[in-house]
Amino acid sequence: SEAPLSDLLGRRHDYLRISLTERCNLRCQYCMPAEGVKLSPRSALLTRDELLRLVNVFASLGVHKLRLTGGEPTLHSDLADLIQRLCSIPGIRTVGMTTNGLVLTRRLPALQRAGLAALNVSLDSLRPDRYEYMARRPGLSRVLAGIDLALQLGYRPVKVNTVLMRGFNDDEICDFVEYTRDREVEVRFIEFMPFSGNEWGEQKMVAHREALRAVRARFPRLAPVVTHACDTAMVFQVEGYVGRVGFISSMTQPFCASCNRLRLTADGNLKVCLLGAGEVSLAAALRGGADDARLRRLVRSALANKKPQHAGGAAQRRAVAVGRVAARWYCTAA
Ligand code: GTP
Ligand code: 5AD
Ligand code: SF4
Repeated sequence: SEAPLSDLLGRRHDYLRISLTERCNLRCQYCMPAEGVKLSPRSALLTRDELLRLVNVFASLGVHKLRLTGGEPTLHSDLADLIQRLCSIPGIRTVGMTTNGLVLTRRLPALQRAGLAALNVSLDSLRPDRYEYMARRPGLSRVLAGIDLALQLGYRPVKVNTVLMRGFNDDEICDFVEYTRDREVEVRFIEFMPFSGNEWGEQKMVAHREALRAVRARFPRLAPVVTHACDTAMVFQVEGYVGRVGFISSMTQPFCASCNRLRLTADGNLKVCLLGAGEVSLAAALRGGADDARLRRLVRSALANKKPQHAGGAAQRRAVAVGRVAARWYCTAA
């Protein structure tokens, strides 16, 4: 049988993030410009069967965890059916989704029945006016109701992704911690990352140490929580609170050394790093008649080119500026 997928540093890769669509029903400030971004032509997007074929190939290489992303994955036209098919691929143990949460109250029960096992929801402000400024669309009450429904349905924890931006939501850090008092959520404060067209600036980013300091100042009884080696967040719990608080330090303290992730874009490109430039078109290979063995070799050789660490910070921004990073907006690449 196949050797497990490792790169030259010995990092095992068993986790695949799949962008199901480039479209989104929000226009988050940190993600994309107000007018949106140019979409790939429909013919370039993977069909359902092409996607299933590729996931079978990844599973045969030892990938056992999938995360569906976008754009906004719930915009996929037949998501429950797709989830069910992904769950039945031999070797796949967990299918999760990262969503903006807008349609969960309507759609989550069916997705859960289909096998969706883990849920991460983006939420950057607890104040309606700010939410609408940040997402350039209204929706806060729907997202909050979606999170509560997920908890009712038994998702544990529901992870809440909060990108901190100075002058926008850094004064809500403690409100978000309070939100964990009686909900089994894990609120993760994320450092703002540079991406094509998102006007990243060092000054706009709130470093995880600063966020942690703000939390400790108000909640001194903060205990570390043990996590898995490949998790993105450092996690804590306020004594007596049901939920947890995490910090994702992608910029100031990259966790690339424990990276276990691969990414598949909606148009069928393999990315071995969130912030890397190189993409390998598995769609082209597949459409050119490649068999599974050939696809496996392509995946392995792409992984052999994976860098020890992403450039980060100013270097990353320069790379974006000179076009060395693919012109994809964040969630699509994420
Ligand atoms: P779990 O599967 O629950 O661990 O989810 P996750 O944290 O990996 O994924 P999610 O989609 O919720 O992403 C949350 C944040 O994690 C993103 O905004 C990124 O900041 C960060 N992140 C996810 N994957 C990577 C990665 O491969 N590299 C880096 N540097 N950051 C990542
Ligand atoms: N920096 C950090 N995190 C981001 N996300 C989207 N854009 C950025 C950015 N520029 C987060 C979203 C989503 C997750 C997949 O990535 O909030 O939850
Ligand atoms: Fe949509 Fe996610 Fe980008 Fe917001 S961050 S605009 S939810 S793709």
